[in-house]
Amino acid sequence: MRKNIVAGNWKMNTTVSEGVELAKEVNAALKAAKANCDVVICVPFTHLCPVAAAIDATVLGLGAENCADHKSGAYTGEVSAAMVASTGANYVILGHSERRQYYGETSETLREKVALALENNLKPIFCIGEVLEERENGTFNEVVRCQVEEGLFNLSAEDFGKIVLAYEPVWAIGTGKTATAEQAEDMHAFIRGVIAEKYGKEIADNTSILYGGSCKPSNAAELFAKPNVDGGLIGGAALKCADFMGIVSAF
Ligand code: PGA
Repeated sequence: MRKNIVAGNWKMNTTVSEGVELAKEVNAALKAAKANCDVVICVPFTHLCPVAAAIDATVLGLGAENCADHKSGAYTGEVSAAMVASTGANYVILGHSERRQYYGETSETLREKVALALENNLKPIFCIGEVLEERENGTFNEVVRCQVEEGLFNLSAEDFGKIVLAYEPVWAIGTGKTATAEQAEDMHAFIRGVIAEKYGKEIADNTSILYGGSCKPSNAAELFAKPNVDGGLIGGAALKCADFMGIVSAF
């Protein structure tokens, strides 16, 4: 059966020393009170090695927030999936809406990134979600269907089984405006149906689909109680140990 996961997305926040401190705090909190879900922190590239050294991988997973769409070579400033894996990380967020919006990531580049992540045994946390205009004009289901189909449906069933999905309505990210638990559940059930059409019910039932967008301790329990919501991808609230643990303990 699918796993429940709470994953932090630190985005472009904290210096290395601040990040190591935060990771240590989360690690200690998880040692003190065992979580009822998998817990992961996705951190800036610069933080991966020191954070990997500071945490216990048996209680806290580690991921990057992106990786390159090429294997290696003359791509100044890029960080490859192999480099990420060599730090000890085992997850990578791909296709976050901020990457799609500000850095022009397309489904085509994302297919390359997903393939390279999988080759290097990194588990992609693949993000999808509509913008406000699409929510309001009613095209949100089709937008998300397209993102899933274009980004992932080239994968074999075996490889698709390694993907974690994160539904993040763009209008809810960092805005304080959370999707209602019903809106999240409806979309997650829709996404699971899209997966079932392509890969069958068993694979669809085994896929973890996380919700992201202003998830916080006060709304996590209601969201996670929905049958198709298998956890959260947490931005702002992942930057304070107490808030992040408040979300983890919603399971
Ligand atoms: P937020 O971000 O929790 O700050 O809304 C979520 C995300 O972008 O992954």
